[in-house]
Amino acid sequence: MTSYQRTALITGATGAIGKAIALEIARLPEYRLVLLCRDRHRAAAAASEISSSSGNEFVSYELVDLSSKTSIRALAHRLKDPVHVLVNNAAATSRRRRETSDGIELQFASNVLGYFWMISAFTNQLRAAAPSRVVNVASYWAGDLDLDDLEFRRRLTNLPRERTIQTVFERMEEVLESLAD
Ligand SMILES: NC(=O)c1ccc[n+]([C@@H]2O[C@H](COP(=O)([O-])OP(=O)(O)OC[C@H]3O[C@@H](n4cnc5c(N)ncnc54)[C@H](OP(=O)(O)O)[C@@H]3O)[C@@H](O)[C@H]2O)c1
Repeated sequence: MTSYQRTALITGATGAIGKAIALEIARLPEYRLVLLCRDRHRAAAAASEISSSSGNEFVSYELVDLSSKTSIRALAHRLKDPVHVLVNNAAATSRRRRETSDGIELQFASNVLGYFWMISAFTNQLRAAAPSRVVNVASYWAGDLDLDDLEFRRRLTNLPRERTIQTVFERMEEVLESLAD
């Protein structure tokens, strides 16, 4: 017998922002929360911390590699319950260009395709819980998106750390200036 009425899934809950979001959802007593993580130890630690901090005993985790469509499909095959909230939050922020085992640039696979794969794989579960909600967390890091270079073949990713930090600050300044306009 369960005492929750709604199910939320969240990716990247072992990270900074994801854990904060997960904690707020877990504080809502009507929710069961499933953390979707790739590392069993970090997942178990996060689930335990979020459960004890929120008092919600229905916090669990499932393992998935969000840069892999195959792994996401297998996850959706295991989790058949209606899903009321899906938070796509996980992200890879590699400073060097890397590819997944499927040959897709890692950040594009994890931060872009992975979000679409999740929505696609869980469409039936989201429909079953309608009105349901999908929240996609993004970053200003994608701000100067080049549609002709989605897999970062030309983008300068192999920069030294100082240059990367400088680039991030320049982008943050641009965002703040655009907000002030
Ligand atoms: N931090 C910022 O300043 C900032 C600003 C704007 C937007 N954002 C956005 O906010 C979101 C969260 O950022 P954050 O700073 O909290 O990130 P973070 O601390 O680096 O955490 C990233 C999370 O994504 C997970 N992850 C990465 N690749 C994965 C994969 N292939 N499969 C499963 N899980 C994977 C990581 O799991 P592991 O624990 O296994 O590594 C971790 O839980 C991201 O979408 C980011 O773009 C962040």
